[in-house]
Amino acid sequence: MERSLSMELVRVTEAAAQASARWMGRGLKDEADGAATSAMRDVFDTIPMKGTVVIGEGEMDEAPMLYIGEKLGNGYGPRVDVAVDPLEGTNIVAAGGWNALAVLAVADAGNLLNAPDMYMDKIAVGPEAVGMIDINASVTDNLRAVAKAKNKDIEDVVATVLYRERHQHIIAELREAGARIKLINDGDIAGAINTAFDKTGVDILFGSGGAPEGVISAVALKALGGEIQGRLLPQDDAELERCIKMGLDVNKVLRMEDLVRGDDAIFAATGVTDGELLRGVQFKGTYAETQSIVMRAKSGTVRFVDGRHSLNKKPNLVIKP
Ligand code: FBP
Repeated sequence: MERSLSMELVRVTEAAAQASARWMGRGLKDEADGAATSAMRDVFDTIPMKGTVVIGEGEMDEAPMLYIGEKLGNGYGPRVDVAVDPLEGTNIVAAGGWNALAVLAVADAGNLLNAPDMYMDKIAVGPEAVGMIDINASVTDNLRAVAKAKNKDIEDVVATVLYRERHQHIIAELREAGARIKLINDGDIAGAINTAFDKTGVDILFGSGGAPEGVISAVALKALGGEIQGRLLPQDDAELERCIKMGLDVNKVLRMEDLVRGDDAIFAATGVTDGELLRGVQFKGTYAETQSIVMRAKSGTVRFVDGRHSLNKKPNLVIKP
């Protein structure tokens, strides 16, 4: 893949973030998601690539755009797999909360796990603790490993967990072990990425969330030198059947290479609402400001991109609710 593709892809997440940010706090998550999806779709057509959506907004019959199998790009350039989450954190935007992102990942064709839309158990860490975690080990053992890797006490370790009933046993064990906990209402891609940045203060992510989000997080962590491990968690027979049909082993621990093969992969995200890592979209009257991160796994280069977008020159960006 051309490295210039990275900068092109940031334009896609910037557009999605600006469109969905208009819906902040309005209590309308589907509208926020729709705005992000449509803006993202529009910009994709200008990008020099032959892309196929492998993780998207749903199957062809249930999503009008960015559905699985949809072709993206202007038809020139590399053949790539595309994973999109136009609005990661629909409820976050609806409530004007923290850490909503417009996100995508691109990899050489055939290299992204085609994760079905179901839960995945996850554990993720930044570079210092790579090789030390084990999704099969207890929460306490993993905490110990991260504390050792980061040369601190367990009491100093911060674990991020989605605040869900299904995670009560994880939260109880974290409390018992004495760790500090950041309970998040949504957005476990941000939760996973934050483990790789010291300034976020987060050391490890535990718990289940969307499997598609797990694959996208893996691309980001590959570029950042971190690690995520996952395991599919089908919730009923239909989901189990789906995994079997797709040739996916639900008992297997999915490691970095299973989630994203090789290192020809790019991750891009733009903040929709403010977060620990990225600022959300700011509308300043005649222009909008965005903050994005874009990274290539091959080079390990991580770029933070500040955008200032003239709203006069791009009236298509001003689609107000
Ligand atoms: P949406 O943007 O699709 O609402 O997903 C937000 C999210 O919090 C993800 O970050 C996470 O992986 C998943 O939902 C968790 O699912 P659930 O809300 O069912 O626990």
